[in-house]
Amino acid sequence: MSPTPERPAPLVHLHQLSKAYLTDDMETHALDGLDLEIQSGEFLSITGPSGCGKSTLLSVLGLLDTATQGRHEMSGVEVGSLNARQRAALRNREIGFVFQAFNLVGELSVEDNVALPLLYRSDLSRAERRERVAAALAQVDMAHRARHLPAQLSGGQQQRVAIARALVGQPRLILADEPTGNLDSRNAERVMELLCAAHAAGATLCMVTHDARQAALAARTVHMFDGRIVRDGALPTASAAPTAPAGTALSATRPAAQGVLHA
Ligand SMILES: Nc1ncnc2c1ncn2[C@@H]1O[C@H](COP(=O)(O)OP(=O)(O)OP(=O)(O)O)[C@@H](O)[C@H]1O
Ligand SMILES: [Mg+2]
Repeated sequence: MSPTPERPAPLVHLHQLSKAYLTDDMETHALDGLDLEIQSGEFLSITGPSGCGKSTLLSVLGLLDTATQGRHEMSGVEVGSLNARQRAALRNREIGFVFQAFNLVGELSVEDNVALPLLYRSDLSRAERRERVAAALAQVDMAHRARHLPAQLSGGQQQRVAIARALVGQPRLILADEPTGNLDSRNAERVMELLCAAHAAGATLCMVTHDARQAALAARTVHMFDGRIVRDGALPTASAAPTAPAGTALSATRPAAQGVLHA
């Protein structure tokens, strides 16, 4: 029998995924039977009202938290079958995070913050790690602040350092949770350019945002409500090029990264 050519496994596959939080007197279903496939190289934005489960979804996608029910595969591997150490290794190697509140370690210098994801990378020599950190800081135009502490930087600068930290390990998946939520419009634009550039260079980008213009930068927008996905497809906005049907491969409609947020 001749082998049938197989479709490559999606980067992420969630099937009937649920996450319940148990507190003293109540159970909250933050994710409620959610299905989602993310192909390698996609850029998708996640929108929805406050409390609908967006950050919970990103925590689960980022292996920071575990689902209470359902299947979660990453590159064809069932995440639930991994032990804590294997999950940490997968997270460390394949996933980069950018948070609204930057989440830099206050006691560490800029360059030490950026080096954090490389700490457990035994495949890289010290010299290679140093080179990677320097390159990542140069990429976000923060090389001149390498020895500073986070508190000595502006918010926009801190977020650029956080992006360098997310990119330094060359992860396949970048998860950004309202990455411009604490920034003015000029810094927000800069951050979006850097994230779009990382996507253009091949990373898969999954971004939670409340900003419709930012959401429209992604050719695929997933809209959540009450722990579920209620809409999944291209946003029919004026700024988007010809809209693609739901689930269409993404690169065709993504506008160029440069200056994308200027009206
Ligand atoms: N650690 C927790 N313990 C208990 N409940 C939680 C916890 N984290 C989140 N929740 C609840 O889960 C639901 C989803 O929260 P989540 O933070 O994912 O929402 P969100 O869509 O990111 O909202 P926002 O837009 O305000 O950031 C909310 O009802 C929230 O109160
Ligand atoms: Mg949130």
